[in-house]
Amino acid sequence: MPATAEPLRVAVLVGSTREGRFAPVVTKWLTGHLDQRDDLRADVVDLAETPLPTVFPAFGQQPPPGTEERLALVSPRLAEADAFVLVTPEYNHSFPASLKNAIDWHGEEWHGKPVAFVSYGGLSGGLRAVEQLRVVMAELNATTIRNTVSFHNAWSRFDPDGTCTDPAADTAAKALLDQLAWWGHALRDAKSVRGYVA
Ligand SMILES: Cc1cc2nc3c(=O)[nH]c(=O)nc-3n(C[C@H](O)[C@H](O)[C@H](O)COP(=O)(O)O)c2cc1C
Repeated sequence: MPATAEPLRVAVLVGSTREGRFAPVVTKWLTGHLDQRDDLRADVVDLAETPLPTVFPAFGQQPPPGTEERLALVSPRLAEADAFVLVTPEYNHSFPASLKNAIDWHGEEWHGKPVAFVSYGGLSGGLRAVEQLRVVMAELNATTIRNTVSFHNAWSRFDPDGTCTDPAADTAAKALLDQLAWWGHALRDAKSVRGYVA
């Protein structure tokens, strides 16, 4: 199989680490969509299961003991990904600190890759978090996908068993993943020919 026909590896980064979080419901719905596709292969990177340190080393210095072991559970998976979906709630009109921390621990892992957003929250559906993430991802040489899926009052959009009750969200998920796949293939192909210049 030529390299360009291989499924894209999609890291689904789950941003909330809050106890009692709603994130698993949204993530399971998303991976259900990903699992239906032959062109995308999901790897769920859940920051609650693989928490990262919040103390950064001084420039040029070794990180505190234990840091590398914890990064080893996350960083290689981000490096191997061809594309990302960030699953983010909205906290105080932005995205959670846990997600920013995970973003900041990494650099080249983001370069030249597409990033899509699935957001949820109260009235705004996490859209303010997404708009701020777009600014951050631009600094990391990533390409953000225009289409989003956002769940306003997210807890009212799913049955108790986790089934999404909003057909528009399923339609939006397909459009989002179609765009992510297009950009993922385009950027992977381009990098295989030209490499990447940051
Ligand atoms: C610290 C905090 C701040 C929040 N701020 C907002 C907000 O600004 N806008 C909003 O729509 N929802 C806000 N919410 C509601 C969350 O988006 C909602 O509870 C969501 O389910 C949180 O995601 P999680 O359960 O996966 O952690 C906030 C929740 C928390 C915990």
